[in-house]
Amino acid sequence: MKKITIACLLGFLLLTIIYLPACKKNEVTSPINTEDANEEYSGGLLATTFDFSENAFGHEVSGLQGTKADDFVVGNSFFRNNWVTAPASTTARDGLGVMLNAQSCGGCHSKDGRAAPPESPTAPLNGLLFRLSVPGTSPNGSPNPEPVYGGQLNNRAILGVTPEGYVSTTYTEETVNYPDGETCKLRKPTYTFTNLGYGIMQADFMFSPRIANQVMGLGLLEAIPEATILAFADENDADKNGISGRPNKVYSVVSKKTELGRFGWKANQPTIMQQTAGAFKGDIGITSSLFPDENLTPAQAALYPNLPNGGTPEIEDVNLNRVVFYMRTLAVPGRRNTNDASVIKGKQLFTQVNCVGCHKAKIETGFDIIPQLSKQVIRPYTDLLLHDMGTALADNRPDFLATGTEWRTPPLWGLGLVKTVNGHTTLLHDGRARNVEEAILWHGGEAEKSKQAFKQLNKAERLSLIKFTQSL
Ligand code: HEC
Ligand code: HEC
Repeated sequence: MKKITIACLLGFLLLTIIYLPACKKNEVTSPINTEDANEEYSGGLLATTFDFSENAFGHEVSGLQGTKADDFVVGNSFFRNNWVTAPASTTARDGLGVMLNAQSCGGCHSKDGRAAPPESPTAPLNGLLFRLSVPGTSPNGSPNPEPVYGGQLNNRAILGVTPEGYVSTTYTEETVNYPDGETCKLRKPTYTFTNLGYGIMQADFMFSPRIANQVMGLGLLEAIPEATILAFADENDADKNGISGRPNKVYSVVSKKTELGRFGWKANQPTIMQQTAGAFKGDIGITSSLFPDENLTPAQAALYPNLPNGGTPEIEDVNLNRVVFYMRTLAVPGRRNTNDASVIKGKQLFTQVNCVGCHKAKIETGFDIIPQLSKQVIRPYTDLLLHDMGTALADNRPDFLATGTEWRTPPLWGLGLVKTVNGHTTLLHDGRARNVEEAILWHGGEAEKSKQAFKQLNKAERLSLIKFTQSL
């Protein structure tokens, strides 16, 4: 009995000694993508859609029922359908303008997606708009509006009112050389303000071109705890990796206080509610309880004493709330091709050249009243912070705390489906990049090191990295 036990023990020890190193070796060679369980659920388990058709950005989170499902549908209709000039029989949807850029939200965010910039000097602006200001700030810290034209150029107006003007876009090309001899052409836009309807602008006016971005997944971004975003910031670059990142702090018309900025290309809006109400006023000319005044500067209002009005306010709170609910509950498309060897390689390279220094892969949301957004592991590929991106991308126009060279890291989820949904692949705040490669090569400032590391990769590696971004 005793002998057998000892023999067993010895045998076991021997087996352990033989097999232990073998086990360790196996662990090391296991495929990397199995370490990231559920990585295809970019918007978490309840707010990811696997419809990869042209409607990929337009789905609701799973499990909306009853009045919630109705709110989504009605919110969608107020987002997509055109507003009309007052007075009209459709009183819920009248009050267009008087100044405007488009007749509906969907006019710029087509299929909840992203606009492309004008390709010729006379092409319509569509989803490209121009923020305007003059030096200094208004008392709440926002940019100081241009005295006659206000904070945004409205290139359209209702019948009988002169539009503010038009902006003509031309491009000049330059060539970037890779160390391996390959080249890539970049195009830089130049803008000329024409047809100004109310005289010349103040000589030192500043402008910021901004393209309409895709709007899915925003409820999840709003549900990220403020502390998480602030923890990404490294304002004085204490870790000396060249990447600082800092939060924008912007004025909330609801709390009447300064809050963390999350939305817009410079994180210049604190909430989806304020961004939405701001768009109704600034882009379509629809007043709301948040922004009750018509979108006219005093100089313009004096010229038009009897303007039509679609109610006070023009969009009622119940419908504004539905549009906000719609914005908050648009699901994110899931990943494709996560097991493709080249995509897996590209994912490693994305980390290796430190794209993840700003485009943070994995974040957990905090508590949210919409359960599908609450406490979810999401993969937005953003830190929602401002970064100095260098002079080549600069608009030279401050926006709250954001300087003329700073931009918010845009989320990269859904990137590979923009072509399917919107029929183009243009990227960056003004749509100058015609594809992901060009977008990367425009990176400078805090992202200079990362861009240089990308340029040092061989061609196959660069293609893998780009292929990975296309799987997002
Ligand atoms: C004229 C084109 C245009 C129209 C019309 C328009 N938008 Fe936008 N939208 C933009 C642009 C440009 C931005 C980026 C704004 C910025 O950076 O300041 C944007 C940004 C947004 C964002 C923030 C996205 C993000 O990732 O931060 C939301 C939300 C949004 N729009 C909702 C709406 C809603 C709701 C409407 C209708 C009431 C609307 N938009 C109408 C052009 C438009
Ligand atoms: C220092 C922070 C930072 C780093 C590092 C960084 N990015 Fe970015 N990225 C940004 C910012 C900010 C923008 C927006 C710039 C603009 O629109 O002018 C951006 C834009 C992009 C866009 C266009 C997104 C859109 O919606 O238009 C892509 C694609 C992108 N980055 C990929 C990468 C890749 C790939 C890497 C690594 C090689 C990388 N980025 C490294 C901050 C960073």
